[in-house]
Amino acid sequence: MSLSRRRFLQMMGASAAATAMTPTVLTRVAEAVQASGAWYPVVWLQGQSDTGCSESLLNTLAPNVVDLVTEIVDLKFHQTVMAAQGHLAISVLDDLLASEEKFLLVVEGAVPTAHGGAYSTMGERDGKKVTFLQWVQDLGARAEAVVAFGTCSAFGGIPAAEGNVTGASPVTDVLPEQKVIRLPSCPGRPHHLVGTLAHLKLYGMPELDELRRPKMFFSLTNHDNCERRPFFERGDYAHHFGEHKCMYLLGCKGPITHNDCSQHQWNSRVNWPVRGGSPCVGCAHPLFGGPRGNALYEQLPEIQVPGFAGLEAKADKAAIVLAGAAAAGIAAHAVGRAVTKNKKES
Ligand code: SF4
Ligand code: F3S
Repeated sequence: MSLSRRRFLQMMGASAAATAMTPTVLTRVAEAVQASGAWYPVVWLQGQSDTGCSESLLNTLAPNVVDLVTEIVDLKFHQTVMAAQGHLAISVLDDLLASEEKFLLVVEGAVPTAHGGAYSTMGERDGKKVTFLQWVQDLGARAEAVVAFGTCSAFGGIPAAEGNVTGASPVTDVLPEQKVIRLPSCPGRPHHLVGTLAHLKLYGMPELDELRRPKMFFSLTNHDNCERRPFFERGDYAHHFGEHKCMYLLGCKGPITHNDCSQHQWNSRVNWPVRGGSPCVGCAHPLFGGPRGNALYEQLPEIQVPGFAGLEAKADKAAIVLAGAAAAGIAAHAVGRAVTKNKKES
């Protein structure tokens, strides 16, 4: 069954929240993938992470994990779920590298680069441990495309927070950037991965933004479609957790965080952080964790806030701890633009 790219993007995209990633949509995508013929196998490597991205993917209901690995993705290697162990498991990768077979590489977790990558190793070659860094570089060089799944892999995330003795780095630091697609979120979002792999299969490289994120998932911020947006526009803000109002003053990063949580939600559309009473802490933002830090519940700096006198409320003290004024300016500008744009549209 063929599926036009236009329809595919409608189903995946933020504009189709009502239909996105339901079992019906997934069935349609799976049929289109199967009908399009041979599918590149997927190699999944996990580095410096808490396995949250794997769990996020494996816990998903739409698609469920069986459909995922049998009908949508040909999963050739995955440290956590594969039955093979030891040399038998590693031989899958060695054989792949020795062959001409095409494949896609998914990387979960940051890449430890300090001390030659010694902080994470997997298997041996000629009696020597092989670092995760080496695997990413070897397999990444051969892969048709590389998907950095989750914020640690995409931007460094929490492993790259200040201190970072392992030299935790995003995949783009150790591979030619043009191959890498970033899918940030902590953890990574299942429909982002399935949608990206399906797009690669059906139509080739998806359209990416300036940070190499697929536009079909990352064009809007969580603030753009937040269910508490009417409170924001009225200047009606929560001052304490538990108040059912806009959580901007409680540090919500929704205005600068490009993601589709406010539309597609989580756990098969059951809930998302704001509905659960938490500000968006910006887990998909490049500054989440990271060397410059990102204070979870501190207010964003320099944002126009409706309902406040002068409409130019400056955050008391810079909320996100940024490296310098330039970075603060970028963040503030991004927020200001989003707010200004939305005010014009409303
Ligand atoms: Fe929603 Fe946060 Fe925006 Fe308020 S600031 S409308 S809680 S995303
Ligand atoms: Fe992360 Fe914010 Fe979504 S914290 S899960 S990007 S609502």
